Amino acid sequence: MWLSLGFVSLLLSVVGLPQASCRPQASCQPSLPLPVREVYKFPTFPTYLEGIYARANGDLLAVTAFPDAFVYYLTGVDTDSPTVTLLQHFTEINTLTSIIETSPDVFTILGGNTSAYATAVPGTFGVWELDLRSPHHPAQAREMVRLSSGGFMTSMDMISPTNVLVADASMGLVWQVDLQSKTYELALQDPLMDSPSWAPAPVGISNIKLHHGYLYWSNAFAATFSRIPVTVDGFAAPGARGELITTVRSIFLDKFAFGGGGGGTADTVWAMTNADSRVVAIRPDGEYLTVAGQSDQMTVAGGVTGVFGRVPGDTHTFYVATGGGFNFPINGSIVEPGKIVAIDTSGFC
Ligand SMILES: *[C@@H]1O[C@H](CO)[C@@H](O)[C@H](O)[C@H]1NC(C)=O
Ligand SMILES: *[C@@H]1O[C@H](CO)[C@@H](O)[C@H](O)[C@H]1NC(C)=O
Repeated sequence: MWLSLGFVSLLLSVVGLPQASCRPQASCQPSLPLPVREVYKFPTFPTYLEGIYARANGDLLAVTAFPDAFVYYLTGVDTDSPTVTLLQHFTEINTLTSIIETSPDVFTILGGNTSAYATAVPGTFGVWELDLRSPHHPAQAREMVRLSSGGFMTSMDMISPTNVLVADASMGLVWQVDLQSKTYELALQDPLMDSPSWAPAPVGISNIKLHHGYLYWSNAFAATFSRIPVTVDGFAAPGARGELITTVRSIFLDKFAFGGGGGGTADTVWAMTNADSRVVAIRPDGEYLTVAGQSDQMTVAGGVTGVFGRVPGDTHTFYVATGGGFNFPINGSIVEPGKIVAIDTSGFC
Protein backbone atom coordinates (compact mmCIF):
# COMPACT_ATOMS: atom_id res chain seq x y z
CA MET A 1 0.00 0.00 0.00
CA TRP A 2 2.78 2.48 0.81
CA LEU A 3 4.48 1.53 -2.39
CA SER A 4 1.45 2.52 -4.44
CA LEU A 5 1.07 5.78 -2.51
CA GLY A 6 4.71 6.55 -3.23
CA PHE A 7 4.06 5.84 -6.89
CA VAL A 8 1.15 8.28 -6.93
CA SER A 9 3.26 11.06 -5.40
CA LEU A 10 6.09 10.30 -7.81
CA LEU A 11 3.66 10.67 -10.68
CA LEU A 12 2.39 13.95 -9.24
CA SER A 13 5.90 15.34 -8.97
CA VAL A 14 6.79 14.17 -12.47
CA VAL A 15 3.85 15.93 -14.03
CA GLY A 16 4.43 18.98 -11.86
CA LEU A 17 1.18 19.00 -9.94
CA PRO A 18 1.31 20.53 -6.47
CA GLN A 19 2.07 17.92 -3.77
CA ALA A 20 -0.91 17.09 -1.63
CA SER A 21 0.03 17.90 1.93
CA CYS A 22 -2.76 16.58 4.07
CA ARG A 23 -5.76 15.38 2.21
CA PRO A 24 -7.74 12.26 3.01
CA GLN A 25 -5.61 9.18 3.56
CA ALA A 26 -5.76 7.66 0.10
CA SER A 27 -4.32 10.69 -1.66
CA CYS A 28 -1.97 11.87 1.07
CA GLN A 29 1.74 11.26 1.42
CA PRO A 30 3.18 12.40 4.75
CA SER A 31 6.60 13.99 4.65
CA LEU A 32 8.85 11.62 6.57
CA PRO A 33 10.57 11.42 8.91
CA LEU A 34 8.41 13.66 11.07
CA PRO A 35 10.30 16.50 12.83
CA VAL A 36 11.87 15.44 16.14
CA ARG A 37 12.98 17.87 18.89
CA GLU A 38 14.97 16.81 21.93
CA VAL A 39 13.10 17.93 25.06
CA TYR A 40 15.49 16.69 27.73
CA LYS A 41 18.30 14.20 28.00
CA PHE A 42 19.07 12.89 31.47
CA PRO A 43 22.62 13.55 32.69
CA THR A 44 23.75 10.02 33.48
CA PHE A 45 23.81 6.60 31.83
CA PRO A 46 21.95 4.39 32.39
CA THR A 47 18.71 6.24 32.82
CA TYR A 48 16.10 3.92 31.36
CA LEU A 49 12.68 5.52 31.09
CA GLU A 50 9.90 2.96 31.05
CA GLY A 51 6.70 4.90 31.71
CA ILE A 52 5.41 8.38 30.85
CA TYR A 53 2.19 10.22 31.61
CA ALA A 54 0.90 13.62 30.41
CA ARG A 55 -1.17 15.62 32.86
CA ALA A 56 -4.06 17.81 31.77
CA ASN A 57 -1.89 20.90 32.48
CA GLY A 58 0.80 19.70 30.04
CA ASP A 59 3.33 18.53 32.64
CA LEU A 60 4.85 15.09 32.22
CA LEU A 61 5.72 12.42 34.75
CA ALA A 62 8.24 9.75 33.85
CA VAL A 63 9.34 6.63 35.70
CA THR A 64 12.55 4.66 35.36
CA ALA A 65 13.37 0.97 35.33
CA PHE A 66 17.16 1.51 35.60
CA PRO A 67 19.33 2.27 37.45
CA ASP A 68 16.71 2.48 40.17
CA ALA A 69 13.04 3.32 40.75
CA PHE A 70 12.69 7.06 40.18
CA VAL A 71 9.72 9.29 39.38
CA TYR A 72 10.59 12.52 37.54
CA TYR A 73 8.37 15.55 37.04
CA LEU A 74 8.82 17.69 33.93
CA THR A 75 7.35 21.12 33.33
CA GLY A 76 7.69 23.42 30.34
CA VAL A 77 8.13 20.51 27.95
CA ASP A 78 6.81 22.61 25.05
CA THR A 79 9.59 25.18 25.62
CA ASP A 80 13.36 25.09 25.06
CA SER A 81 14.11 24.97 28.77
CA PRO A 82 12.01 22.40 30.60
CA THR A 83 12.43 21.92 34.33
CA VAL A 84 13.03 18.39 35.52
CA THR A 85 12.80 17.43 39.18
CA LEU A 86 13.15 14.12 40.98
CA LEU A 87 9.77 13.68 42.61
CA GLN A 88 10.26 10.34 44.30
CA HIS A 89 12.90 7.68 44.76
CA PHE A 90 11.32 4.37 45.68
CA THR A 91 13.60 2.52 48.07
CA GLU A 92 11.51 -0.63 48.59
CA ILE A 93 11.70 -1.69 44.93
CA ASN A 94 14.23 -1.00 42.15
CA THR A 95 12.11 -0.93 38.96
CA LEU A 96 9.14 1.20 37.90
CA THR A 97 7.36 0.39 34.67
CA SER A 98 4.15 2.41 34.38
CA ILE A 99 2.40 5.50 35.74
CA ILE A 100 -1.19 6.71 35.30
CA GLU A 101 -3.32 9.33 37.09
CA THR A 102 -6.29 7.46 38.54
CA SER A 103 -7.87 10.52 40.17
CA PRO A 104 -6.75 14.14 40.19
CA ASP A 105 -3.23 14.34 41.66
CA VAL A 106 -3.27 10.67 42.67
CA PHE A 107 -0.94 8.52 40.59
CA THR A 108 -0.97 4.77 40.33
CA ILE A 109 2.44 3.27 39.64
CA LEU A 110 3.50 -0.23 38.74
CA GLY A 111 6.81 -1.63 39.89
CA GLY A 112 8.80 -4.31 41.64
CA ASN A 113 12.25 -5.77 41.95
CA THR A 114 14.24 -7.00 38.97
CA SER A 115 17.59 -8.78 39.07
CA ALA A 116 18.51 -8.26 35.41
CA TYR A 117 16.86 -6.86 32.28
CA ALA A 118 13.20 -7.92 32.30
CA THR A 119 13.88 -10.50 34.99
CA ALA A 120 11.48 -9.95 37.85
CA VAL A 121 12.13 -11.23 41.31
CA PRO A 122 8.99 -13.40 41.60
CA GLY A 123 6.20 -11.94 43.69
CA THR A 124 7.73 -8.49 44.13
CA PHE A 125 5.64 -6.56 41.59
CA GLY A 126 2.71 -4.54 42.78
CA VAL A 127 0.57 -1.48 42.27
CA TRP A 128 1.61 1.60 44.25
CA GLU A 129 0.03 4.96 44.88
CA LEU A 130 1.79 8.31 44.80
CA ASP A 131 -0.41 10.98 46.34
CA LEU A 132 0.38 14.56 45.34
CA ARG A 133 -2.81 16.11 46.72
CA SER A 134 -1.32 17.91 49.67
CA PRO A 135 0.90 20.86 48.80
CA HIS A 136 2.05 20.87 52.43
CA HIS A 137 3.34 17.32 52.66
CA PRO A 138 5.96 15.59 50.57
CA ALA A 139 4.61 13.07 48.09
CA GLN A 140 3.84 9.79 49.79
CA ALA A 141 4.24 6.45 48.03
CA ARG A 142 2.57 3.35 49.38
CA GLU A 143 1.97 -0.09 48.05
CA MET A 144 -1.72 -0.72 47.37
CA VAL A 145 -1.81 -4.29 46.08
CA ARG A 146 1.00 -6.81 45.80
CA LEU A 147 0.45 -9.25 42.91
CA SER A 148 2.37 -11.99 44.62
CA SER A 149 1.56 -14.70 42.07
CA GLY A 150 2.48 -12.46 39.13
CA GLY A 151 5.67 -12.05 37.13
CA PHE A 152 7.22 -9.11 35.26
CA MET A 153 4.57 -6.42 34.89
CA THR A 154 5.00 -3.64 32.40
CA SER A 155 1.87 -1.55 31.92
CA MET A 156 -1.53 -0.54 33.23
CA ASP A 157 -4.73 1.06 32.09
CA MET A 158 -7.59 2.39 34.13
CA ILE A 159 -11.09 0.92 34.30
CA SER A 160 -12.22 3.24 37.10
CA PRO A 161 -10.40 5.31 39.75
CA THR A 162 -10.24 2.16 41.90
CA ASN A 163 -9.79 -0.51 39.22
CA VAL A 164 -6.88 -1.02 36.88
CA LEU A 165 -5.76 -3.62 34.38
CA VAL A 166 -2.14 -4.75 34.61
CA ALA A 167 -0.18 -6.48 31.82
CA ASP A 168 2.01 -9.34 32.95
CA ALA A 169 4.72 -9.71 30.30
CA SER A 170 6.33 -12.88 31.60
CA MET A 171 3.10 -14.77 32.30
CA GLY A 172 1.37 -13.55 29.13
CA LEU A 173 -1.86 -12.32 30.69
CA VAL A 174 -3.73 -9.35 32.13
CA TRP A 175 -4.70 -8.94 35.78
CA GLN A 176 -7.62 -6.90 37.05
CA VAL A 177 -6.66 -5.11 40.26
CA ASP A 178 -9.14 -3.65 42.72
CA LEU A 179 -7.38 -0.89 44.65
CA GLN A 180 -10.21 -0.61 47.17
CA SER A 181 -10.58 -4.25 48.22
CA LYS A 182 -6.84 -4.75 47.55
CA THR A 183 -7.48 -7.91 45.55
CA TYR A 184 -6.59 -9.03 42.05
CA GLU A 185 -7.75 -11.68 39.64
CA LEU A 186 -7.09 -12.92 36.12
CA ALA A 187 -8.92 -10.72 33.62
CA LEU A 188 -7.67 -11.85 30.21
CA GLN A 189 -5.40 -14.45 28.72
CA ASP A 190 -4.81 -15.12 25.05
CA PRO A 191 -2.10 -16.93 23.07
CA LEU A 192 -1.26 -13.63 21.35
CA MET A 193 -0.07 -12.39 24.77
CA ASP A 194 2.54 -15.13 25.27
CA SER A 195 6.22 -14.43 24.91
CA PRO A 196 7.47 -16.36 21.89
CA SER A 197 9.61 -19.42 22.54
CA TRP A 198 12.59 -17.84 20.79
CA ALA A 199 12.53 -14.71 22.97
CA PRO A 200 15.82 -14.10 24.81
CA ALA A 201 13.80 -12.93 27.85
CA PRO A 202 10.21 -13.82 28.78
CA VAL A 203 8.55 -10.65 27.54
CA GLY A 204 5.27 -11.08 25.72
CA ILE A 205 2.39 -8.66 26.26
CA SER A 206 4.05 -5.34 26.88
CA ASN A 207 1.62 -2.46 26.73
CA ILE A 208 -2.17 -2.37 27.10
CA LYS A 209 -4.72 0.30 26.25
CA LEU A 210 -8.51 0.28 26.50
CA HIS A 211 -10.00 1.94 23.43
CA HIS A 212 -13.59 1.90 22.15
CA GLY A 213 -14.62 -1.37 23.81
CA TYR A 214 -11.42 -3.24 23.04
CA LEU A 215 -8.22 -3.96 24.89
CA TYR A 216 -5.28 -3.41 22.56
CA TRP A 217 -1.82 -4.74 23.29
CA SER A 218 1.66 -5.01 21.91
CA ASN A 219 3.64 -8.21 22.28
CA ALA A 220 7.29 -7.21 22.63
CA PHE A 221 9.35 -10.06 21.22
CA ALA A 222 6.63 -11.29 18.86
CA ALA A 223 6.43 -7.66 17.57
CA THR A 224 2.68 -8.06 17.16
CA PHE A 225 -0.19 -5.70 17.81
CA SER A 226 -3.55 -7.24 18.75
CA ARG A 227 -6.90 -6.57 20.35
CA ILE A 228 -9.82 -8.29 22.04
CA PRO A 229 -13.32 -7.03 22.86
CA VAL A 230 -13.79 -6.48 26.58
CA THR A 231 -16.64 -5.86 29.03
CA VAL A 232 -16.83 -2.55 30.92
CA ASP A 233 -15.12 -4.29 33.84
CA GLY A 234 -12.13 -5.16 31.67
CA PHE A 235 -12.79 -8.87 31.28
CA ALA A 236 -12.90 -10.66 27.93
CA ALA A 237 -16.31 -10.30 26.31
CA PRO A 238 -18.17 -13.64 26.17
CA GLY A 239 -16.67 -15.87 23.50
CA ALA A 240 -14.12 -13.22 22.52
CA ARG A 241 -10.75 -14.18 21.12
CA GLY A 242 -7.67 -12.17 20.40
CA GLU A 243 -7.40 -10.65 16.94
CA LEU A 244 -4.01 -10.01 15.36
CA ILE A 245 -3.96 -6.55 13.76
CA THR A 246 -0.42 -6.55 12.46
CA THR A 247 3.07 -7.94 12.86
CA VAL A 248 5.73 -5.24 12.66
CA ARG A 249 9.01 -6.04 10.93
CA SER A 250 11.18 -5.56 14.00
CA ILE A 251 12.72 -7.78 16.64
CA PHE A 252 10.82 -5.89 19.32
CA LEU A 253 7.62 -3.86 19.64
CA ASP A 254 7.42 -1.80 22.79
CA LYS A 255 4.76 0.54 24.13
CA PHE A 256 2.29 2.63 22.14
CA ALA A 257 -0.35 5.36 22.31
CA PHE A 258 -3.44 6.25 20.34
CA GLY A 259 -3.61 9.68 18.78
CA GLY A 260 -4.30 11.70 15.71
CA GLY A 261 -1.66 14.08 14.48
CA GLY A 262 -2.69 16.39 11.68
CA GLY A 263 -4.59 14.26 9.22
CA GLY A 264 -4.15 11.09 11.32
CA THR A 265 -7.18 9.79 13.11
CA ALA A 266 -7.63 9.21 16.82
CA ASP A 267 -7.40 5.51 15.96
CA THR A 268 -3.83 5.76 14.70
CA VAL A 269 -1.38 3.89 16.94
CA TRP A 270 2.11 5.24 17.57
CA ALA A 271 4.48 2.54 18.73
CA MET A 272 8.14 2.36 19.66
CA THR A 273 10.33 -0.49 18.40
CA ASN A 274 13.03 0.04 21.07
CA ALA A 275 15.58 -2.48 19.71
CA ASP A 276 15.92 -0.74 16.36
CA SER A 277 15.14 2.77 17.57
CA ARG A 278 12.15 3.58 15.40
CA VAL A 279 8.66 4.96 15.93
CA VAL A 280 5.99 3.41 13.72
CA ALA A 281 2.46 4.61 13.05
CA ILE A 282 -0.05 1.77 12.70
CA ARG A 283 -3.37 2.41 10.98
CA PRO A 284 -6.57 0.66 12.10
CA ASP A 285 -6.29 -1.76 9.14
CA GLY A 286 -2.81 -2.82 10.27
CA GLU A 287 -0.83 -0.92 7.64
CA TYR A 288 2.13 0.78 9.28
CA LEU A 289 5.09 2.94 8.44
CA THR A 290 8.16 4.29 10.18
CA VAL A 291 7.63 7.94 11.07
CA ALA A 292 10.78 8.73 13.08
CA GLY A 293 14.12 7.22 14.03
CA GLN A 294 16.33 4.72 12.27
CA SER A 295 18.12 1.63 13.52
CA ASP A 296 21.60 3.16 13.21
CA GLN A 297 20.69 6.64 14.50
CA MET A 298 20.39 8.15 17.99
CA THR A 299 17.27 10.22 17.16
CA VAL A 300 14.96 7.92 19.16
CA ALA A 301 17.63 5.57 20.51
CA GLY A 302 15.92 2.75 22.32
CA GLY A 303 12.47 4.38 22.32
CA VAL A 304 10.27 2.68 24.91
CA THR A 305 7.01 4.53 25.34
CA GLY A 306 5.20 7.72 24.39
CA VAL A 307 2.29 9.97 25.13
CA PHE A 308 0.51 12.80 23.33
CA GLY A 309 0.53 16.34 24.72
CA ARG A 310 -2.76 17.35 26.31
CA VAL A 311 -2.86 21.15 26.36
CA PRO A 312 -4.53 22.96 23.45
CA GLY A 313 -1.95 23.64 20.75
CA ASP A 314 0.23 20.72 21.86
CA THR A 315 -2.05 17.75 21.22
CA HIS A 316 -0.22 16.92 17.98
CA THR A 317 3.05 16.45 19.87
CA PHE A 318 4.04 12.89 20.65
CA TYR A 319 6.46 12.75 23.59
CA VAL A 320 8.66 9.66 23.39
CA ALA A 321 10.68 8.38 26.35
CA THR A 322 13.78 6.31 25.65
CA GLY A 323 16.23 3.97 27.31
CA GLY A 324 19.16 5.20 25.20
CA GLY A 325 19.92 1.80 23.68
CA PHE A 326 20.61 0.27 27.09
CA ASN A 327 19.38 -3.22 26.08
CA PHE A 328 20.13 -2.94 22.38
CA PRO A 329 23.07 -0.56 21.75
CA ILE A 330 22.98 1.31 18.45
CA ASN A 331 25.42 -0.23 15.95
CA GLY A 332 26.16 -2.79 18.64
CA SER A 333 27.97 -0.47 21.02
CA ILE A 334 26.61 3.09 21.15
CA VAL A 335 24.42 4.09 24.11
CA GLU A 336 23.32 7.32 25.77
CA PRO A 337 21.24 8.30 28.82
CA GLY A 338 17.49 8.11 28.40
CA LYS A 339 15.79 11.18 26.98
CA ILE A 340 12.44 12.60 26.03
CA VAL A 341 11.91 13.75 22.46
CA ALA A 342 8.93 15.52 20.96
CA ILE A 343 7.70 14.35 17.58
CA ASP A 344 5.58 16.83 15.67
CA THR A 345 2.86 14.64 14.16
CA SER A 346 0.89 17.46 12.54
CA GLY A 347 2.27 16.56 9.10
CA PHE A 348 1.08 12.98 9.37
CA CYS A 349 -1.93 11.87 7.40
C1 LIG B 1 13.35 -5.52 46.81
O1 LIG B 1 14.70 -5.83 47.09
C2 LIG B 1 15.21 -5.15 48.26
C3 LIG B 1 16.69 -5.45 48.35
O2 LIG B 1 16.93 -6.82 48.32
C4 LIG B 1 14.43 -5.62 49.49
O3 LIG B 1 14.88 -4.92 50.63
C5 LIG B 1 12.94 -5.33 49.27
O4 LIG B 1 12.19 -5.82 50.35
C6 LIG B 1 12.47 -5.98 47.99
N1 LIG B 1 11.11 -5.54 47.72
C7 LIG B 1 10.08 -6.38 47.65
C8 LIG B 1 8.77 -5.78 47.29
O5 LIG B 1 10.19 -7.57 47.87
C1 LIG C 1 26.19 3.40 12.72
O1 LIG C 1 26.90 2.92 11.61
C2 LIG C 1 26.52 3.51 10.35
C3 LIG C 1 27.27 2.79 9.25
O2 LIG C 1 28.65 2.83 9.51
C4 LIG C 1 26.79 5.00 10.40
O3 LIG C 1 26.37 5.60 9.20
C5 LIG C 1 26.04 5.61 11.58
O4 LIG C 1 26.33 7.00 11.69
C6 LIG C 1 26.41 4.90 12.87
N1 LIG C 1 25.55 5.43 13.94
C7 LIG C 1 26.04 6.15 14.97
C8 LIG C 1 25.04 6.58 15.99
O5 LIG C 1 27.21 6.44 15.11
